[in-house]
Amino acid sequence: GAPVEVDISKLEEGQMIRVEWRGKPVWVVRRSQAILDELPTHDDRLRDPQATEPQQPAYAQNQYRSVKPEIFLAVGICTHLGCSPTYLPDSFNEQVSGVPAGFFCPCHGSKFDMAGRVFQGVPAPLNLVIPPHMFLNDNTILVG
Ligand code: FES
Repeated sequence: GAPVEVDISKLEEGQMIRVEWRGKPVWVVRRSQAILDELPTHDDRLRDPQATEPQQPAYAQNQYRSVKPEIFLAVGICTHLGCSPTYLPDSFNEQVSGVPAGFFCPCHGSKFDMAGRVFQGVPAPLNLVIPPHMFLNDNTILVG
């Protein structure tokens, strides 16, 4: 499949753009500073908080799992059995108390934070996959 360009110039904090790459959904989310500040506070509830995953791009092996802290990309496919998790920017707290926003898989209840890191005690074994990507400029990302 060909690489896909994503224009994020109109992507506001909390919003998600969905594109398709190689037949898979790819999410692009602009995270607020409050979300970034909150991420490390629940590390002890995650399966792999440091995200030192050899199968992920090197530029995503950091605390935000992203090239730029505010812009998060992930393949929108649950690492359990492949359902598409739901983005809950406002009501994730009902799934994981104290965590304001994240992704919830309705199939078997897996929960991922705003860096796509999987919580403990759910069926998904791995964090969400980060697709290969690069910034062409401040407002354009090339996925693939
Ligand atoms: Fe997502 Fe099973 S496919 S929890």
